[in-house]
Amino acid sequence: MNRPSDKVCIVTFGCQMNKLDSDLLRGELARAGFSCAERPEEADVVLYNTCSVRDHAEHRVLSHLGAYRRRAESEPDFVLGVIGCMAQRMADQLLARFPFVDVVCGTRAFLRVPAYIRRAQQGGGPIVDVGEESPGGRFEFDRAARMRQEDHSAYVSVMRGCDNFCAYCIVPFVRGRESSRPPQEVVREVRRLADDGVREVTLLGQNVNSYGGGLEPPVGLADLLERVNGVDGIERVRFVTSHPRDMTDGILRAMAGLEKVCEHLHVPAQSGSDVVLGRMRRDYTAAQYRDMVARARELVPGLMLAGDFIVGFPGETERDFRLTLRLLREVRYQQSFIFKYSPRPGTAAARWEDDVPDRIKRERNQALLVAQEEVDTERRAGMVGRRVEVLVDGLSKADERHLSGRTRGNDIVVFDPPQGARPENLTGRLVTVELTDSTPLTLFGRLSGRG
Ligand code: 5AD
Ligand code: SF4
Repeated sequence: MNRPSDKVCIVTFGCQMNKLDSDLLRGELARAGFSCAERPEEADVVLYNTCSVRDHAEHRVLSHLGAYRRRAESEPDFVLGVIGCMAQRMADQLLARFPFVDVVCGTRAFLRVPAYIRRAQQGGGPIVDVGEESPGGRFEFDRAARMRQEDHSAYVSVMRGCDNFCAYCIVPFVRGRESSRPPQEVVREVRRLADDGVREVTLLGQNVNSYGGGLEPPVGLADLLERVNGVDGIERVRFVTSHPRDMTDGILRAMAGLEKVCEHLHVPAQSGSDVVLGRMRRDYTAAQYRDMVARARELVPGLMLAGDFIVGFPGETERDFRLTLRLLREVRYQQSFIFKYSPRPGTAAARWEDDVPDRIKRERNQALLVAQEEVDTERRAGMVGRRVEVLVDGLSKADERHLSGRTRGNDIVVFDPPQGARPENLTGRLVTVELTDSTPLTLFGRLSGRG
């Protein structure tokens, strides 16, 4: 029996995959008669979609959950759920610490969440599901059109899980082994999104370059890019995240040759020291990484690179760290995500002493951030004077008199709307902007044409 007034709020932590899962789940919930609330205080059901990749992300969720004790005890109809990676990893611990949690549902059982909420509303004790996939597989969500965060830009999951087992990483444990979604299904979803006004799709996978493993007939990321590139209405195609080892010439050539595929790669190095890379089980050396970057830049003119680095991995010396700093400066990333190492239970590295003191981790983290800012400020300054293609995202958050959009290289550009036009009308459109100024975070420009 549906109670249409039931309002659900999903609070999402973690990666883009999690954000997408939350969007998909909102669609499922709407189908089951629930409506969405923006804020937990307005909701009858609050779900935390959680992340386990670093202990910081887990601590934040734990402190949020603690704050629900009183509400859970005083409102018998209130339902609190924990879903996603933490639920998968530590269901028992969660229930022991927060006995008022009603639903604990892992990464593979999302389709069953609406039914679990109903059961919890009828007083059926804590419900735990950290088991197998939902019947029909984990890609069988039929995305409800209006459940996206953005109207003109959407993520599309093309594979899940990871088979790499990097020594620090929890993903294979919480998300399971790699599995790819058949290309025709991906294309069908992209078509539907295009019909619904989406102009930019980002294909998501933890290790997207190895897309296609296990599929029959054999297919790879380059083929998939070609098929998605062919969907009418789509203007831009991106994909994340890439493993440096799996960056084939075929993928790079596809990027270069397919007009909608943007010249942007997120290809984490994690460290610039061979000793550390070896211990991380990354399967490449710093020299191989540099070669890959050189090859990519040669094959894909104008390529922008984003990367991740971990500082303070067990045994990381000052010398190792210097090598990382040098790599970051040399590659001249457009964007770097920098993380302090935290041991994750069950991973190989968790067996090693977490021997770099937090003070040193913080210093190294800061030094990489400063270096990245220097690199980036210089790079942006060099772009002033160029004309670039911009996909308009909407009004600038910092100042609503301006519009904000992104270049193919994923740089944010702020510019004035055309005189007399309603600026909202440009959202989702491609325009040409001449870059006039750059600050550390933003490029400024002047509209010089409609796409
Ligand atoms: N500690 C710190 N950072 C981590 N990452 C993954 N595992 C850990 C960990 N245990 C970082 C990596 C990865 C990004 C998503 O998170 O840099 O690329
Ligand atoms: Fe995403 Fe990994 Fe965090 Fe899970 S643990 S939410 S897969 S980053």
